[in-house]
Amino acid sequence: MSNIWTILETPFTVLAPMEGVTDCVFRAVIEKAGRPDLFYTEFTNVSSFASEKGRHDALERLTVKEKDKPIIAQIWGKNPEHFGNLAKELESMGFSGLDLNFGCPDRHVNKAGGGAAMIKTPDLAVECIKQAKENTNLPVSVKTRLGFTYTHEYKDWLSLLLNQNLAALTVHLRTRKEMSKVPAHYELIPEIIKLRNEIAPETKLIINGDIRDKNHVRELHEKYPEVDGFMIGRGVFANPFCFTDKIPTKDELLDLFKFHLDKYDEHAKEVERYPFEPLKHFYKVYINSFDGASDLRVKLMDCKTTTELRDKLSHFVASGGYDRG
Ligand SMILES: Cc1cc2nc3c(=O)[nH]c(=O)nc-3n(C[C@H](O)[C@H](O)[C@H](O)COP(=O)(O)O)c2cc1C
Repeated sequence: MSNIWTILETPFTVLAPMEGVTDCVFRAVIEKAGRPDLFYTEFTNVSSFASEKGRHDALERLTVKEKDKPIIAQIWGKNPEHFGNLAKELESMGFSGLDLNFGCPDRHVNKAGGGAAMIKTPDLAVECIKQAKENTNLPVSVKTRLGFTYTHEYKDWLSLLLNQNLAALTVHLRTRKEMSKVPAHYELIPEIIKLRNEIAPETKLIINGDIRDKNHVRELHEKYPEVDGFMIGRGVFANPFCFTDKIPTKDELLDLFKFHLDKYDEHAKEVERYPFEPLKHFYKVYINSFDGASDLRVKLMDCKTTTELRDKLSHFVASGGYDRG
């Protein structure tokens, strides 16, 4: 089996895993706008996969379409055996790799011992990596933060991870305590590159935090040529075309919104339950940069179906609701 991490050309771009965002519908949207080199799924809990109901939901979340590929499955939890069991199944599901989430700051996730809480239980983290690796031929990677409380924790924490012979390591350049409230610590990139080069030169290093778009990736690559990959998260909300050089017009954004609605409808037919409410979080991605945008968003908030949304959008455009271009 070919290893995706050795095939990707440097510097490669990645759409960050984002719960409630990077499902197959939004991946199709970004594929249409201009895809990154690599997609990740939202994270899936390894222990919920152990129950029958959880397994069904997880399998739905982990459905991969041909156009998603190459794509990495991201998983989280704290039970090494469960990491191994899920790792076993992922190989036949179309994934190019398996990523362990050791960075999520969510209180519930951390209370359950997962995500960034792993930084505080390094022996358990090592055991989870070991079980994942022993149970799959897929390359195993980790996404994490600099530390739990203090930035200097990165020295021990990232060294420990780099000693696990990982295929790739993504570092979100903040601590768990910092959440996303402070600027990403780009000043630590040279030190992190040095650690990677000393301990695990074969492990691909991906940097994450506040990266805006392709142009920003170019700038960062010029400054830090030894970083292999650049992962963009929230930048995609500011510009869903961020993996291209395009600055979209309002019409292009509106067209992409309609495409999003079409993909939503397609997926809603395929799965048992695909709620409408979370779709509202995306309105601002497409409707944000023209006079009347916020009024239109308010009107769209009352819609309960994609048909209503399309009607309101058509009415807005037909009534000359905004200055095209
Ligand atoms: C809505 C949302 C959901 C997220 N869900 C996940 C997740 O499932 N797994 C993960 O590793 N990180 C998750 N993250 C963190 C992002 O992957 C990324 O590390 C973070 O947003 C910093 O990158 P940025 O500054 O480019 O946004 C999430 C972030 C957001 C905003």
